[in-house]
Amino acid sequence: MAEFTLPKNSKITKGKHFPVSNAKGDVRTFKVYRWSPDDGANPRVDTYEVDMGSCGPMVLDALIKIKNEIDPTLTFRRSCREGICGSCAMNIDGTNTLACTKAIADCGKKEVPIYPLPHMPVVKDLVPDLTHFYAQYASIKPWLRTQSAPPTRERLQSPAERKQLDGLYECILCACCSTSCPSYWWNGERYLGPAILLQAYRWIVDSRDEDTGARLDDLEDPFKLYRCHTIMNCTRTCPKGLNPAKAIAEIKKLMLERRSV
Ligand code: SF4
Ligand code: SF4
Ligand code: FES
Repeated sequence: MAEFTLPKNSKITKGKHFPVSNAKGDVRTFKVYRWSPDDGANPRVDTYEVDMGSCGPMVLDALIKIKNEIDPTLTFRRSCREGICGSCAMNIDGTNTLACTKAIADCGKKEVPIYPLPHMPVVKDLVPDLTHFYAQYASIKPWLRTQSAPPTRERLQSPAERKQLDGLYECILCACCSTSCPSYWWNGERYLGPAILLQAYRWIVDSRDEDTGARLDDLEDPFKLYRCHTIMNCTRTCPKGLNPAKAIAEIKKLMLERRSV
């Protein structure tokens, strides 16, 4: 049997422990992944004890408290703190999700592990490098493409046509789904992954878009689309309750339909 070992410089070491004293409420412990490109040290996991008597209910509240009151060197992204911007996506308690909408009370493990989104290069601590992800998003040309003359006022949609976008327009591009997808882990350079394919489908089904054929042509590729093997991790993990696997299946169906015409 083949045996694989991690190179020495990638082994995660035990980090620092920050105990709490004089807690006013329950104490929750967070085990947080730490890595900095600046010191040449291996990644480590630091342990922070947080007094829940003076902490908000969400995991993001705990991270902000840690940064403000315990360890200002901790680095993470956040902006809206209400599940809209997608920037606080990380792996919490074993699942990719948003720190701002994940309740600490819903974390099952006594010591809550917090890691960056899996299988992405890390910029620092909990911040993944999403450069390639955004380049893939740009590659599907995510805007309305038309050939007809612009109307004097606006391009209209019936309520039924607008309804086609439900379950798609809500995507906040947090990358939780793509970074949970084994096919994306192994073929992410060429496979677009569930988030970008859901976005591609969002434009394919938009009744106002006039480039459906070209959009499907662009996806007719052994890697961009067909690396999805319906494993469904994407749909299970989406913090917005969306179904990228279904969007991918719908694109495949459209591909088949146009071949049989
Ligand atoms: S489909 Fe869901 S998990 Fe994927 S990027 Fe959009 S909001 Fe995030
Ligand atoms: S259904 Fe497709 S996109 Fe979703 S996790 Fe599975 S392989 Fe990845
Ligand atoms: S901070 Fe915007 S989604 Fe969490």
